[in-house]
Amino acid sequence: MEITKVIENEIKKASKYNLNTYPYKYIGSLENLTIYDFDEPALADVVKTAQEKYLEYRKTTLYQRTEILLNTTKLMEEHKETIAEIISYEAKKPVKFAMQEVERSIQTLKLSGIEASKLEGEYINLDVAANGGGRNAFTKYESLGVVYAMTPFNFPLNLVIHKVGPALAVGNSVIVKPSEKTPFSTYFLKYLLEQSGLPEGVMQVVTGDGEKVSDALLSHDEIKKLSFTGSVRVGEILKNKIGLRKLTLELGSTSPLYISKNVKKENIKDIAEQVVNGAFAYNGQACISTQKVFIDDEVFESVIEEIVKKTKQLQYGPLNDHTTDYSDLIDSQSQQRIIEWIKEAEQGGAEILTGGEIYKGSVKPTVITGTTEDMKICRQEIFGPVVVIENLKGRNITEILNDSSFGLNAGVFTSDFEEALQLSNDLDYGQVLINDVPTVRFDHMPYNGRRHSGYGTEGIKYAIKEMSQLKMVSLKYV
Ligand code: SIN
Repeated sequence: MEITKVIENEIKKASKYNLNTYPYKYIGSLENLTIYDFDEPALADVVKTAQEKYLEYRKTTLYQRTEILLNTTKLMEEHKETIAEIISYEAKKPVKFAMQEVERSIQTLKLSGIEASKLEGEYINLDVAANGGGRNAFTKYESLGVVYAMTPFNFPLNLVIHKVGPALAVGNSVIVKPSEKTPFSTYFLKYLLEQSGLPEGVMQVVTGDGEKVSDALLSHDEIKKLSFTGSVRVGEILKNKIGLRKLTLELGSTSPLYISKNVKKENIKDIAEQVVNGAFAYNGQACISTQKVFIDDEVFESVIEEIVKKTKQLQYGPLNDHTTDYSDLIDSQSQQRIIEWIKEAEQGGAEILTGGEIYKGSVKPTVITGTTEDMKICRQEIFGPVVVIENLKGRNITEILNDSSFGLNAGVFTSDFEEALQLSNDLDYGQVLINDVPTVRFDHMPYNGRRHSGYGTEGIKYAIKEMSQLKMVSLKYV
């Protein structure tokens, strides 16, 4: 299959509007593809199509929709290498991580069909109420209409599927605005879905400036739901625009981890390995990258020594080399911001144990200690290859971890059952992972953030509910 041709064709179909174009420069097989900046009339047309197509698509059966999704996963299986190539290329993701994303994406789409089949209503005993007798009542889930999905660059396929899969499974149409940095995986997904029987127009892809596109799309009442993954800043803007319509926001995090003195000594090497993977996989460009690690004094020295040793072993390399641990960051602005935050911490007295400098298009994997909570590196999401490691020195871990504007995933390593139980109760986070780093996510698990980390819940089963609406029907004997 010629990827460039397939995607070019998708882009042409999406940009029948003769818009102002801007060049989208890529090297390699996707070279010279151009994406289009959708203006207001074009977006109005997209919404009109989405609404018309929705009115037809909602009539399909769950069986038909599940078939489309499952057939798409079969095509994805056949084209794994091609898809990994697209992801790797546009997101600058080393191929071993791109391949992991492909595997996850297949599973996420598969689960969308399966979970939608399990979405059942219930029988309601209306005669519990004094005057409720003589009725049979039940609930069922119905589709919403047109769903608008906005997705980030870091998982350009899987995070799109987290929205598109559930939306299509329950009978909605969907308009996707992928990150302007990574639109090609989304186009390719659309192509595969249509090859598997999804009617054209049920899924549409729009590109351009996020704020302008969102303003224009959300001005149409036909858009019934917005699902966004991205920054807190944009999440807040969107929340103010959406009004009374349904909303899911998956925003940032500073993903903390506690390593207790109660870990088994023989597990320390393995824990350090998990921390290094959690902090530096794909240059730490994930909401749940391990960012802040607090370690009890008793094990601090041995854990940090292992972490620094393993961090130093990480290899920079080309994207297509299966041994590459890290490659360039997504763009030079990220590189600049990350290095500035490191410098700010250093000037404030923090100590860099390894890394801390620009290396080619990236920043060397950085381990830093001696920070204070007011530093950007501690309070804001770094989204880069930096991990802060601190000695807890007897302070209260619950107070420290809960004093954060974020609350997505938190990890704890301990072999003490009481401690595990206590912390799983006390930590004010959407997900508490005992004996895992906070970077662990399985795509079917609930994924919801507290405070500035989000609003609503993703994870297939949960997203399916958020992509549909409950109806109760009461049948009265007359
Ligand atoms: C994210 O960065 O938002 C998602 C991370 C993941 O799915 O692993």
